[in-house]
Amino acid sequence: MNTTDTHEEARQGEALCIEGQRGSKKVYMESYGCQMNFSDSEIVASILQKEGYVTTIDPEEADLVLLNTCSIRDKAEQTVRKRLSQFNVLKKEKPEMKIGVLGCMAERVREKFFEEEKLVDMVVGPDAYRDLPHLLNDLEDGRKAVNVLLSKEETYDDIEPVRLGGNGITAFVSITRGCDNMCTFCVVPFTRGRERSRNPQTIVEEVKNLAQSGYKDITLLGQNVDSYVWYGGGLKKDFAKASEMAKASAVHFADLLHQVATAVPQVRIRFSTSNPQDMSDDVLKAIASHDNLCKSIHLPVQSGSSKVLKEMNRGHNREEYIALIDRVRSIIPDCGISHDMISGFPNETEEDHQQTLSLMEYVKYDFGFMFFYSERPQTFAARKMVDNVPLEVKKRRLAEVIERQQIHSLERNHAYIGKTVEVLVEGFSKKSKNDLFGRTSQNTVVVFPKKNHQSGDKVWVHIDRCTPATLLGNSLD
Ligand code: SAH
Ligand code: F3S
Repeated sequence: MNTTDTHEEARQGEALCIEGQRGSKKVYMESYGCQMNFSDSEIVASILQKEGYVTTIDPEEADLVLLNTCSIRDKAEQTVRKRLSQFNVLKKEKPEMKIGVLGCMAERVREKFFEEEKLVDMVVGPDAYRDLPHLLNDLEDGRKAVNVLLSKEETYDDIEPVRLGGNGITAFVSITRGCDNMCTFCVVPFTRGRERSRNPQTIVEEVKNLAQSGYKDITLLGQNVDSYVWYGGGLKKDFAKASEMAKASAVHFADLLHQVATAVPQVRIRFSTSNPQDMSDDVLKAIASHDNLCKSIHLPVQSGSSKVLKEMNRGHNREEYIALIDRVRSIIPDCGISHDMISGFPNETEEDHQQTLSLMEYVKYDFGFMFFYSERPQTFAARKMVDNVPLEVKKRRLAEVIERQQIHSLERNHAYIGKTVEVLVEGFSKKSKNDLFGRTSQNTVVVFPKKNHQSGDKVWVHIDRCTPATLLGNSLD
């Protein structure tokens, strides 16, 4: 995946459904934004299944339409509002149909949704999904339903997600929720609340169950997985106050990686997202020491300028980030590295922008998610800083960042030509049913002729061509 798009556009409004279920009521769900939202939709589906709902991919036959929304940039919210007005047209013909908004935008806009979007019936924040049965009762009784309470404990750790719309090969498992980092541009701490970690036992159990059901590539999810910590409780801020004994037996992210990798040695394990200031050498060594821990790290940097990083309240400067990249390359020499970058943060000068380009030149990332700055309500930047980089300048700088990434992606992919890589097959190529696609441990997409291979196979592929986004070749057998 080499995208110039935003997260929400990369997986925009996918309709989520499992086939072959029976039940009396039908729910149509769309999920926007980050992987965590997709994972949450699977928890919501599990809660609704117990209420007798089955999922459908046809909104016209739905009793309940749920949009799991994203607030990360203004454009993400506009997309959801457009979609809501489309569903409202449908609702005019079918007034008994209920429309609910879940996720970050529900948390941000709250009750105002009922005024702004006249036909929203239900608003549920990311920590309130257990309340859905009550909220649905409220709806049946003709009341508007809203719960946007954030929780310090909720991790949904006892809920077995219903896997939706997947390929049966790749799955997500949430390990932390919320974020305490307070990057000044980011709305997530306000929409998803305090950071908390999930009991490792329940994580290992879920991963083992997935392995037993045939899943072969599992991504551990959190806004900041490296600060995962479990010491009997999961709240990061309370860890500082915990007893020495509790701290001594605490499970940190590197420990969790060892536990998960050992529990399912045949399954590839990935994780996202890492935060540079929290990524320890123990994590890097864990990746190097287990074959099934994928050699791929998503390491958002946001800017190459220490001045901008400071204003973003990132916990690292340019030099520290570069030192971390050097450690990644020395401990895991074949590691794929990707990034997130923001162009046009307040006060970003041309010199800051050049520093971003030069950092990219140093790292030569495999791919990246690149955005121009979008001011978000409530954030420190919105309250205390002026969004003073003109839109054309933001866009021009972003285009330069994207162009540089394209060059590096092509360069990285070129280096694979003539080599043989192990690919886990995930399905048919989008372009042809004669070709399969899969990913390497480094998270690079590979397309090759099907022959007798199928989804779930691990196949050795000799690479003979590439684009910036894809390696192309032929399987050895
Ligand atoms: N730690 C999170 C980051 C969530 S937001 C994770 O798990 O991915 C994903 C990316 O969106 C951020 O890394 C950042 O590059 C971008 N982003 C966040 N807020 C933004 C804003 N206000 N404008 C533009 N891009 C933003
Ligand atoms: Fe947002 Fe920074 Fe957390 S980007 S999700 S506040 S690590």
